[in-house]
Amino acid sequence: MKSAKQFVKDLREDFQTLFDISEKQCRMYFSQPDLTKEKMADFFKVRMFNERWNMVEISKKVSELPVDTPADEAKLLAKQAFDEAEHFRLVCEVLEHITGEPVDLNQFNETHGQPRPGYGVMLIKKYEAHNDPLILAVYQFLVEGQGSHVWATMADCAFDDFIKRRYAKIAKDEKFHMSIGRMQLEKMCETPEAQEKALRVAREIYWDLYECHSIALFPPTEEIKSMMRNAYGEPPRQLCVEI
Ligand SMILES: [Fe+2]
Ligand SMILES: [Fe+2]
Repeated sequence: MKSAKQFVKDLREDFQTLFDISEKQCRMYFSQPDLTKEKMADFFKVRMFNERWNMVEISKKVSELPVDTPADEAKLLAKQAFDEAEHFRLVCEVLEHITGEPVDLNQFNETHGQPRPGYGVMLIKKYEAHNDPLILAVYQFLVEGQGSHVWATMADCAFDDFIKRRYAKIAKDEKFHMSIGRMQLEKMCETPEAQEKALRVAREIYWDLYECHSIALFPPTEEIKSMMRNAYGEPPRQLCVEI
């Protein structure tokens, strides 16, 4: 059996194709010749409410922590909720910067406030439903890590410094959230059963994230579809996007 540390290191390598795919889809999104201000504003409204939902869901988790949770773990999760609130504000600033108009949160809440496919937060709900700390740690390690990768790519694609700085800050925080998941996994993946389960769940989440990028960023090209298949085989269920 691998040590927990080695297992987590290999799991991170297993993610790489998915991360590469999300980066490609992100770059394709931002290089569209017909990317209007309105289209971008719409995209950032989705990103903004996704951050808000992250704040809401992580705060709920903080409020539900068992009484004997080590104080350091509780503080890390509370820090994550704080970060997500900050991201909500940063994306809001980006939106104002792009449109040149003040953001009307109540109005945008009507049109973009409810979670829908393509919102990463749908996955928090899906996997939280398992009520299993190992699954949540996989979620944290993988989904926050992938979020960090996408924000860093967006920072690279951004057309001015105001936007670049804000995305880079979000990318840095998401990387920290990923490290919370890594720490938990290194504690929990000490048996062959735990390692087998973590890998199985990660490989389910890959397909959820593939759907998320394909809806929120850019539809998959033939190259992307074959990258997915070559790395992860056939999807374990019917997808809502092409493969
Ligand atoms: Fe965030
Ligand atoms: Fe996060």
